[in-house]
Amino acid sequence: MLNRRRLFTAGAVVAGAAIAVPVGILSSSASAESTTASQERQLRDGLEPNTGTRPLAAQPAGTTFTESMPIPQVLAPSQAAPNTDSYQIDITPATVQLVPGTSSSALTYGGVFIGPTISATVGRPVAVTYTNHISDPVSVHLHGGHTAAASDGYPMDLVQPGQSRTYTYANTQQGCTLWYHDHAMGMEASHVYYGLHGMYVLRDPAEASLNLPGGNQDVPIMIRDVQLDDTGNIIYNLEGAEDRNTILVNGVATPFFQVATRKYRFRLVNSANERILNLSIGGASFSQIGSDGGLLPAPVSRTQLTLGSAERADIVIDFSKYALGTQVFLTDTSGQILRFDVVRSETDTSTVPSTLRALPKLGTPTVTRQVSMKFDFSGEMPVGMINGAAFDPDVINFTVTRGATEIWEVSNDDTDPSVDHSFHIHLVQFQVLSRTGSPMLPDDAGLKDTVRVPPGTSVKVQATFTDYLGKFVFHCHYLEHSSVGMMGQFQVVA
Ligand code: C2O
Ligand code: CU
Ligand code: CU
Repeated sequence: MLNRRRLFTAGAVVAGAAIAVPVGILSSSASAESTTASQERQLRDGLEPNTGTRPLAAQPAGTTFTESMPIPQVLAPSQAAPNTDSYQIDITPATVQLVPGTSSSALTYGGVFIGPTISATVGRPVAVTYTNHISDPVSVHLHGGHTAAASDGYPMDLVQPGQSRTYTYANTQQGCTLWYHDHAMGMEASHVYYGLHGMYVLRDPAEASLNLPGGNQDVPIMIRDVQLDDTGNIIYNLEGAEDRNTILVNGVATPFFQVATRKYRFRLVNSANERILNLSIGGASFSQIGSDGGLLPAPVSRTQLTLGSAERADIVIDFSKYALGTQVFLTDTSGQILRFDVVRSETDTSTVPSTLRALPKLGTPTVTRQVSMKFDFSGEMPVGMINGAAFDPDVINFTVTRGATEIWEVSNDDTDPSVDHSFHIHLVQFQVLSRTGSPMLPDDAGLKDTVRVPPGTSVKVQATFTDYLGKFVFHCHYLEHSSVGMMGQFQVVA
């Protein structure tokens, strides 16, 4: 199932969704009698995440830093029952503008390239009804959410074209920045690439006393890369994450954002399929206050941070140290991606306290498991494997007792050729205990649900599996890897 045909199907189905898709590998392989050695090499190269070593693609003249960064609209509940906020989102093809003055076909939540933001509150459940208006089946996953199995977006639990499904979220975990994205079996890479992603901010009354920047100074920023043709239309080319050299910031290439001389909280999300972002603001320091699963115990002063696919960082930048008229660039190693324009003086009463929020106690682990991530490159098409086998919905890799605290030692065994991997577990937030073969990273701090695992190294994480029974997946979060099999599952039992 997860072979050559699977990859072809993923692209072809999207092509059928009225999207013009010059999908390089699909057409070139289809016209050739057999896959040539060079095509195989290109496919392998396409599995290596973009690390920003190549400069960003040039934009048409006069289109850089001309548009204000959109802030995805916060969705209004369709119904606010006493105990639940209900929302409706249509999954639909749409024409969007990614580079000013151009248009592109996309797959969207609610007609916009970054879907509407759901603003939830700890302790108050949310129900989102998605209606599928595209020609593929979909499955919606709330990434980082502590979610019951029936609403977790299991890859085989599909919402067929024309159908609706209501997903419910209890919001019992601590405040954090989550994001929702497609997870349909074998299709998540193309669906997410074409735009099926949005933010879900879980606000926490327990944070109120910290007096962090809030309101209009609490800004979610989703960053992803795409490859565009000359007309600004998205190209999905499986041969080259390296060719995805346009970085979109909240769905627009190189926007500006006007700020006042005060502190801002930015919730950064890397929603790219296969990219490691190395972000900085010209060497100036900023405070990291949170990671994937919520606040850090204390703010950390940083001048650079690294976000692999699906990772998040909550940061505070204080613009009071800049003179009016200053332009501050948020840069990746590939180039400038966002310009902050300091345009107004304002007084600021918000704070970044020296103590934020203690991490939950780790507990005593009762089980240690090994997870190996590796490609099988021996066939015509690469197959992603966990512990030696591609994902099989009928195979349970691990049976986990509800309430258990476990250590998972996750290794990246792709050293020849070397391929980077990223590891994500559904249902839980974990803490990174140690790394073997590479140093611990400042980015490993706090509650995490996704970590980078460089080739030939391993990482030990610890998590506690509370509340929900049933089947949940874990996988490499480079979505071209999970889509070709690099995924396993665990079943939580009572
Ligand atoms: Cu964002 Cu299964 O993941
Ligand atoms: Cu997830
Ligand atoms: Cu991988």
